[in-house]
Amino acid sequence: MRLIEHCSLTDKHSFHLNANARYWADFDHEDELRSILTDHRFTNLPHLVVGGGSNLLFKGDYPGLLLHPDMKGMEVVAEEKGTVLIKVGAGVVWDDFVAASVAQGWSGAENLSGIPGCIGASPVQNIGAYGVEAKDLIVGVEAIDMANGQPVTLTHADCHFGYRDSVFKHTLKNALVVCRVTFRLSTHFHPNLGYGDLAARVKASGNITSVLVRETILAIRQEKLPDPDIQGNAGSFFMNPVIPAAHYQSLLTTYPDMPGWPQGDDVVKVPAAWCIERTGWKGRQLGGAAVHDKQPLVLVNKGTATPADVLQLSAGIQADVLAAFGITLKPEVLFIEA
Ligand code: EPU
Repeated sequence: MRLIEHCSLTDKHSFHLNANARYWADFDHEDELRSILTDHRFTNLPHLVVGGGSNLLFKGDYPGLLLHPDMKGMEVVAEEKGTVLIKVGAGVVWDDFVAASVAQGWSGAENLSGIPGCIGASPVQNIGAYGVEAKDLIVGVEAIDMANGQPVTLTHADCHFGYRDSVFKHTLKNALVVCRVTFRLSTHFHPNLGYGDLAARVKASGNITSVLVRETILAIRQEKLPDPDIQGNAGSFFMNPVIPAAHYQSLLTTYPDMPGWPQGDDVVKVPAAWCIERTGWKGRQLGGAAVHDKQPLVLVNKGTATPADVLQLSAGIQADVLAAFGITLKPEVLFIEA
């Protein structure tokens, strides 16, 4: 266990903004977490769990205790009917898990290659990319209840997964520390190439294997998404809005080229990136923060961004998208109060 008082957060989150936390604690065992939770120094302070910090915006210095689970290990816990169940520690880097499973010949996670962050955040955020979401793989979650230190086991159904959403953002918000996640992967390769031009890209490269799918996705991400170690960012800053089908139809009369993906009969998901581009924000800079010039859903730190710069940029985009399309963009990034 490691406890740091007045801890700089600059290298502990992918936006790399300047902010400090009153306390930072990392731990690799549930017992260490329990001893932190009962330590009188922290009982009256706010607590927040931070994994890889790849989806956070600190609005300033955090006045409480940041808890960083660092449980490692990947263990096959069962093999059944062409699948394996793998239990993975919350502190394992997500992409190390994907790389290891592809190397083992297990399929299911390859479309999620290159997503930054740690395993512990995957059920919370229900991370997703290229037609696959963590919920498609998650069987169960082991956590510790912060109120009493007791272990809690959640099934897939208990997690109430939705688009970038789960029970951990609602009734269990700030209540649990995710320690381990169990995933089901297939021992046979089932390519999932339905998203965008993925099929064309993969087929152009040769014989379709999970290794090739992983390599292709890593290449697509590298072309479009800025590397947070070079230009601080938190991936998609906003969620893709889901709007009533009637609203989408009325927008098509003014914007006939507006893309949309029906989600059932009544609602349509529209690309936030398209809305941001059409309101002229792509590539624009405010202070030290800017809208990425290849993927406008990503806001970047040009090196000197302050939390206020990012907030101002985000508010400007939201206002213009609302005025143009009547759509409220919801941040995907979690704003942490100072
Ligand atoms: N688009 C534009 N202009 C652009 C870029 C995109 O108009 O400059 C429009 C196009 O219509 C394009 C559509 O946006 O077809 C979708 O673009 P893209 O495939 O890049 O995906 P996205 O919807 O913008 C989502 C996820 C990403 C994930 C990609 C690929 C969300 C909030 N974001 O982005 O996830 O990598 O799909 O599956 O759902 C993240 O969550 O941090 C993240 C990067």
